[in-house]
Parts: sequence; structure tokens; C-alpha cells
Amino acid sequence: MNLLITGGAGFIGSHVVRRFVQNYPNYHIYNLDALTYAGNLENLKDIEDFPNYHFIKGDIVDEPFINDLFVKIDFDGVIHLAAESHVDRSIEDPLAFVRTNVIGTVNLLNAAKKLWSNSYVKKRFYHVSTDEVYGSLGKEGLFTETSLYNPNSPYSASKASSDHFVRAYGETYGLPFGISNCSNNYGPYHFPEKLIPLFINNIIERKSLPVYGDGKYTRDWLFVEDHAMAIDLVFHKGKNHETYNIGGFNEWQNIDLVKLLCKVMDKKLNRREGESEKLIAYVKDRPGHDLRYAIDASKINKELGWKPSVTFEEGLERTVDWYLSNSEWLNHVTSGDYKEYYKKMYS
Ligand code: NAD
Ligand code: TYD
Repeated sequence: MNLLITGGAGFIGSHVVRRFVQNYPNYHIYNLDALTYAGNLENLKDIEDFPNYHFIKGDIVDEPFINDLFVKIDFDGVIHLAAESHVDRSIEDPLAFVRTNVIGTVNLLNAAKKLWSNSYVKKRFYHVSTDEVYGSLGKEGLFTETSLYNPNSPYSASKASSDHFVRAYGETYGLPFGISNCSNNYGPYHFPEKLIPLFINNIIERKSLPVYGDGKYTRDWLFVEDHAMAIDLVFHKGKNHETYNIGGFNEWQNIDLVKLLCKVMDKKLNRREGESEKLIAYVKDRPGHDLRYAIDASKINKELGWKPSVTFEEGLERTVDWYLSNSEWLNHVTSGDYKEYYKKMYS
């Protein structure tokens, strides 16, 4: 099996690449990544010498490059994760999200359609997406696979668009596909622009913790290795032309999560109880901020037997431990451009 994984140097992608390289020694795993600010080969140091692992630097927006790649390598499957992934950045620069998330995805679909059309039965195009395409829930209810698409941010609009293109290539050209829509992930190698790693880094540095609005926004958190396990199952056993929702059954209001994180960090850093909580600062809200995301993951549970293996308390502690023992990684990703980004977004 020649398997193309796009975005494998990013947060979730690196966990997916690691899992496949380690668990499937007979597969050739090709990690295609443009190494944007979010892509980092340090995330894959432990597996880079495995004989079944191959890295290709390249941009999915580059159409001739993508076509050539599909001619050169007869891929049996694609797991597509490459994306611009941060809502706040999408508010600053929506076009970057259209380029990678929409045009990049369509380039991959076109190459697969062209090269695979005589052998569709043996192929699979798997698109990794987000629950944010469904928009916002009120206080009640859960997103299911049949919830209406109602994206509110340029990020979620671009992901919704890419989901629609994948489905359309399935319906129009018969391309075999799968899609999964997952809730917020957390864990090791998470770039510190997203809530949990940003706040871990700020607590270490005793910097303020910028909570948007009243902090009552709710997210459903899933440990990243459990997402990688779900992706493995959907890729191998998921039904053709189907969508699976993936979530942690684990809802937290931001402010409660931040207070728990402060408590865990105070203990780990031998600080006085309550010290980190003093860093909390309520700041201007994110425009178009979705109130609540929560996933009904019963379809993947019933059909494929998947459920999260890690409790939130366990996952959060493992995550904090990882950041505290990987200060070199953290220092590398928070130097240079990151400082400019932080100043622009938070000063
Ligand atoms: P990330 O930002 O950490 O990583 C994205 C990766 O894609 C990086 O390695 C980057 O270099 C690469 N990339 C970006 N543009 C590229 C391009 N034009 N060509 C090739 N590579 C490019 O993102 P993540 O958090 O790991 O998310 C991965 C996927 O999972 C995304 O599609 C995202 O929408 C989806 N997702 C993320 C979450 C989450 O909580 N992070 C939840 C559900 C779904
Ligand atoms: P984030 O990690 O950006 O993920 P998403 O927007 O995709 O859900 O944000 C998670 C929640 O935390 C979201 O409600 C916005 C909030 N948030 C803050 O309050 N402060 C911050 O500095 C960041 C980055 C996020």
C-alpha cells in the first residue's frame, strides 16, 4: 500500500503518520507537507529513519506538482489533513484559507480522479475535517452526521467548502471517499496558537491568559491520539461515501478548562495553589465566536467500535507533562515569527 498523508508535519498529522508508520510496516507512508509555520519535522524525529517513512516537501496548491506526484507514485489511498487550521488567523487572512483548504483539496481530488478512474474499487480518498462546519449549537443538542452545514468563520467556511467538494467528486465522478468531522483536539506537538498549548506556554512564562469574552464558550475536547485511532479505523473500515463524527463526549466551558489547567500547572511547577489563576485576563471577544460545539459520536461507536481511551484529566496531565519535558521544542516554535504573531494578535 502506498499511502499519501498530507499535512503530516502538523499537530494531528504527525500523530497519524507516527501511528501508521509504526503499526503498518508493510505500507509506504508518504508525508506531503509544505512546512508552513505550523509544520515541523521535529514532530516526527522518532520515526524519521523508519524504512517505510518518506517525507515530501510540497504545496498542495501547486497543481503541476500534485499531478506529477500522482503520476510518479501510484497511491492506493490519501488521508488529507493539510490545511490552514486556526480560526483567528482566518479572520485576518481568509484568502490563505481558500487557497490551501479549498483549492489545495480540489487539486488533490483532480489528481486522484485522473489517475485512479480505472481502479476506483481499490482506492480511498479520506478527508479529515472539523465539527466547526456545522456552526454553533445553543445550550442544548449535539452535532450529528446529518446536522446542517452552517459555518461562521472563514476557517469553517473553507473546511465546509472542501467537504462539499469531496462529496461532490464522490457523487459526480464516483471517487471513493470518506469524511470525518472531529471536535477540538489537544495533546503533544500542538502549536501554541490554540487555547490549551498557548495557555500552557503563557503559564510557564507567567504571561497573562487572554480569555475571549466572558469565557463561557464551550468546546468538546478529544486527546489527539484518540483522534488518530479513529482516523485509522475510518480509513480501513469506514463505509464508502460516508461521514463519521468524532468527539470526546467531553464538554468544557473555556473558563472552567482554564482554571483546571492552572491548577494542574501550579502543582507540576511547584507554585502556590491559585498562583496561575491570577494570570487570567478577560479580553475582547473573537468576532463571530461560536458559542458551543459538541459531537454525537454514536455512529462511529456503533459501526466501528471506537470510543475515546483517555479521560480528560489523564490527557491533560499527559499533555502538560509533555510540554514541561519538551522545552526545546516549545522554545523553537515560539521564537522568530511566533513573537510577531503574538504581538499582532494580543497586544
Ligand atoms: P496544523 O495547523 O497543526 O497542521 C497543518 C499542517 O498542514 C502543517 O504541517 C502545515 O505545514 C501543512 N500545510 C498547510 N498548508 C499546506 C499546503 N498548502 N500544502 C501542504 N501542506 C500544508 O493543523 P491540525 O490541527 O493538525 O489539523 C489537521 C487537520 O485536522 C486540518 O484539516 C484541520 O482542519 C482538521 N481538524 C483539526 C482539529 C483540531 O482541533 N486541531 C479538529 C478537527 C479537525
Ligand atoms: P481554539 O483553540 O482557537 O479552537 P477553536 O476556535 O477552533 O475552537 O479556541 C478554543 C476556544 O478558546 C474558543 O472558544 C476560543 C477560545 N480562546 C480564548 O479564549 N483565548 C485564546 O487566546 C484562544 C486562542 C482561544
